[in-house]
Amino acid sequence: MTSAQTAAERIAELRSDIDAHNYRYYVLDEPSVPDAEYDRLFKELKALEAEHPELVTPDSPTQRVGGAALAAFGQVRHEVPMLSLGNAFEERDLIDFDRRAREGLDLPTGDLLGEGAELEYSCEPKLDGLAVSLLYENGRLVRGATRGDGSTGEDISTNVRTVRNIPLKLHGSDWPAVLEVRGEIYMPKAGFEALNARQLETGGKPFANPRNAAAGSLRQLDSKITASRPLELCAYGVGRSDGDLPDTHIGILEALKKWGLPISRELRLAKGVEQCRDYFRDIGEKRDALPYEIDGVVFKVNSVGQQRELGFRAREPRWAIAHKFAAREEVTELLDVEFQVGRTGAITPVARLKPVQVAGVTVSNATLHNMDEVARLGVMIGDTVIVRRAGDVIPQILGVIPERRPESAREVHVPEQCPVCGSAVERTQLIKRSKGRESFSEGSIYRCVGRLACQAQLKQAIIHFVSRRAMDIDGLGDKIVEQLVDAGLVGSPADLYSLSFEQVLALEGFAEVSSRNLLKAIDDSRMPSLARFIFALGIPDVGEGTAKLLARALGSLDRIACALPDVLVYLPDIGLEVAHEIHSFFQDEHNQLVIRQLRERGVELQEEGDVHPEFAACATLAGLLDNLNIPFIAATGAQRLADRFGSLEAIIGADWLDLRQIERLNEKAARALRDYFDEPANAARARVIEAQLKEFGMHWQSERKAAEGLPLAGQTWVLTGTLEAMSRDEAKARLEALGAKVSGSVSAKTSVVVAGPGAGSKLIKANELGVAVDDEAAFLKRLASLEA
Ligand code: IVH
Repeated sequence: MTSAQTAAERIAELRSDIDAHNYRYYVLDEPSVPDAEYDRLFKELKALEAEHPELVTPDSPTQRVGGAALAAFGQVRHEVPMLSLGNAFEERDLIDFDRRAREGLDLPTGDLLGEGAELEYSCEPKLDGLAVSLLYENGRLVRGATRGDGSTGEDISTNVRTVRNIPLKLHGSDWPAVLEVRGEIYMPKAGFEALNARQLETGGKPFANPRNAAAGSLRQLDSKITASRPLELCAYGVGRSDGDLPDTHIGILEALKKWGLPISRELRLAKGVEQCRDYFRDIGEKRDALPYEIDGVVFKVNSVGQQRELGFRAREPRWAIAHKFAAREEVTELLDVEFQVGRTGAITPVARLKPVQVAGVTVSNATLHNMDEVARLGVMIGDTVIVRRAGDVIPQILGVIPERRPESAREVHVPEQCPVCGSAVERTQLIKRSKGRESFSEGSIYRCVGRLACQAQLKQAIIHFVSRRAMDIDGLGDKIVEQLVDAGLVGSPADLYSLSFEQVLALEGFAEVSSRNLLKAIDDSRMPSLARFIFALGIPDVGEGTAKLLARALGSLDRIACALPDVLVYLPDIGLEVAHEIHSFFQDEHNQLVIRQLRERGVELQEEGDVHPEFAACATLAGLLDNLNIPFIAATGAQRLADRFGSLEAIIGADWLDLRQIERLNEKAARALRDYFDEPANAARARVIEAQLKEFGMHWQSERKAAEGLPLAGQTWVLTGTLEAMSRDEAKARLEALGAKVSGSVSAKTSVVVAGPGAGSKLIKANELGVAVDDEAAFLKRLASLEA
């Protein structure tokens, strides 16, 4: 705010700037400022409004947060009814619609007379959300309503105001004094995913699809909930209006856009029904890439005059039609749930369905992901379920129709034994570490413990091992792997390297040349990079990226194999669970044997070397302390401890008093640290981690180390009172440059206290403790000699 500006003026300016940014962002899709700048303006406006509550108006951009919860929605009568659309499911229906429209307008029916008789249509996607009416009076949003039964809807004014891309005030000034905008409020796919993730996290029920989520969010009596949901509007028409509007549908939508209302980016003009058909096909191809769900496209006769002439039939306009995509959701019966065993032994439930056509493809299987999903869906064998197939993804079960559950329905149980090898099935555990302790909770994955003794896992493990991004053994397809395993020739990846010519030749489909080629391909794979090899091992949760990271950071298989989980977590993106997976993979005796055999049989790893200096550098003492998860010791506390003591041993050995000297380390934290290291197992564990980190070539990069060799290294100075020759900050910087630590409190360990005029309690304490005190003159002299 400039000094000449009043708060009211600045508020007006901020609102108009924010509105302009919103317009560019939501309507033009060309953001004009970085988010941070926008947030800054918004914050400033909020602060000003808080100071001047009398200046808050309902159309301020800050007023999108929702208001007091309602007991019920009021009713709204639609003066212009909100109609629905007729549907075209097939091209025939669309051609019929076009023919009827032309007949209705007395236009010559195309085929005979050709182009001149074609109708112009506007084409828009049919968004899958909730239809709304937004009433603007004198440019201000005064009411929002649902469609309801078309003649009466619910008043959701407070809720629509929370939708970010609905302008509370129209732009420009040439809008009709009364303008009722119609459109669809929907939830973009990304927002829907995020909302469902949040619902699951907070124990809420996830929504079946973005449409339900949008409807559920908008029909909340508590508008604060609506405000927290990622809703958006797309305007597609006008209801009431008391002024002149353009005489084409597209013209009207463009006017709405100019007034600040978001319209579809996919809006096009089609000349004749053939171009409508092209549009339908193009949008169908784009469908999965669009950021929102659509269920078809809407064609409207573009000329408003012609629309009027055509009028309505029952509750549907004769001038518009919805051309729907083939349904992606169908209903069928769940015949059974089988369990498949994956590469890492994970047992996944797979739904066997009564075959059903979904969007042109017969579906008889669907994934159920895991047992949590089964529980979430509440699905039982024999149920009638809703299946969805979209794009290339595996069909999914969306939900159950509980009313159709037969009495004979059975619950889904995880088998106690692996369906392939009969080994025990275990539930995976989630590891959490807090307050210095690891705790385990049940995960949603069940695993066959048979590892390579389980044929299913063995086959998948070999298929993975030989795959292109792993050992890249050309010509060793899935079918051959199955044969090799079934014939008992290959019981582990190492056995590939001892296959004989005769053994391969005996396989189905192999002749001399092909056998030789396969053996050559196997031979050619004997020198993989370390990263490829690690990836090829198929450690659970270790993908190509993690394998590369492990190889790059630790440099050798031996180091990776013996790395402790607590050391592995120093690597970016490696969490405790993956760290445990890696560690226990290499602890497993059978795995150790296979790796040994691989090496014995001539597999020679490339690119083994040193620990990467970056990894060495990221291991700090503060990081170690932080990773131990000692109660009340967070990152900053850990840093202070590291700065003060410089080594793990010093911290383990520190007594209570030493700890209490640390600035802002409160009593609770000091006590927790003491208690933690008083436990011998904890101290031992910390020492083992430190030892391994050092063995891997890491050195603590504490400040103390950096300060070594400087004249004031290891000293702690305290500045108090005012200094005349320089600011406190300068004095601090100069001391630090000389290796000293500058602290805010005096203790027996303080080296020197610099006391300027006005020094109080710190000086007294220094005198009490017998700490050296410099006045400013002495301080300057000392600085001069040290800096020389
Ligand atoms: S025009 C008289 N345009 O589809 C014309 N509707 O079945 C009325 N919808 O209730 C609607 N996208 O919720 C129109 N671009 C679009 C639309 C659209 C979605 C919905 C709307 C309406 C329903 C009609």
